Amino acid sequence: MASCCPASGIRAAPLPCHRFQRSRQIGIDRGISELFSKVWNRQPNEYEDGLWLFGREEDGDYFDDEDALRWQNGRFEQSWFTDKLLNNAASRKLIDEIVGNRKPYVDLACGPGMGLIPSIRKISSELPCLAVDANSMLMKEWRKWLNRNGMQTGIEFAQFSLFDVPVKDHAVNAYGGFLSLSSTRSGSKGYDAALAEIYRTLAPQGRLYVIESEWVDVPAILKVFERSCLQPWNCFLEPQLTWHDRFLQSGFRILSEELYMNRSLNSEDNELGREAEKAGIRIGMQWNAYILEKPLSAR
Ligand SMILES: C[S@@+](CC[C@H](N)C(=O)[O-])C[C@H]1O[C@@H](n2cnc3c(N)ncnc32)[C@H](O)[C@@H]1O
Repeated sequence: MASCCPASGIRAAPLPCHRFQRSRQIGIDRGISELFSKVWNRQPNEYEDGLWLFGREEDGDYFDDEDALRWQNGRFEQSWFTDKLLNNAASRKLIDEIVGNRKPYVDLACGPGMGLIPSIRKISSELPCLAVDANSMLMKEWRKWLNRNGMQTGIEFAQFSLFDVPVKDHAVNAYGGFLSLSSTRSGSKGYDAALAEIYRTLAPQGRLYVIESEWVDVPAILKVFERSCLQPWNCFLEPQLTWHDRFLQSGFRILSEELYMNRSLNSEDNELGREAEKAGIRIGMQWNAYILEKPLSAR
């Protein structure tokens, strides 16, 4: 089975302009691989049919054949066809802006939900999208499902870690994702490393569109660990910083911050949720939708 992410619970070419803005000139279907191939700052270890592989698999989640079966037998279909993000005002705003901006979109730590891409595809069949995850098996399985269902057009895949993004400086105009940063596995250090890589590779005035989660009451969580005699996860033992403050600290301008949803962790989420229910302690979680910009001055 997949290891659980802490918070839940994507050939260099010597062309003069390598930025994603050129998508409209290149043509949506014909040039998509060519388009994305121009952003890399190094050769992939491998490239096969719309999937670039750069390594550092160990930074991502671990999945096995059982996960792949579950994905092929319903989970991907559910992810692809859900209207969840389109029906929520905060996430809808992100998706409308990504589509409205018409810049090729890179989804980070896309996971089995493929982030914001299924929702983007419902309102735009043309926007070039690159789905990124550290786990290559996940993306091979996604490609298999999309091909089988005749829906592969305009989506490429790249396997790399958010801690080591193989992209040239200032080369991407639109990154985003659903619980992308929250899903990384090295706590505060990891969030800052991922944000530094995103910032470095974003074009000035490029945007980061993310929905991220945070814990509402860490002392209550520590009480659950204490009562259940479990060792607190490392992320709870370090100084807590809100996403808002972390984005500012990493150099981004916050253009918009809206509540996506809040709820309590429950027994279906993970072991911590089970222990919280047993102890009768509520563990609140809040998801916010952010539109962030790298300032024009950041060249
Ligand atoms: C729970 S999913 C995130 C939600 C996902 N965006 C979705 O829409 O379903 C976690 C994903 O994050 C990926 N991940 C975790 N750490 C990563 C990292 N450092 N770089 C890239 N992907 C990472 C995992 O491999 C996994 O597929």
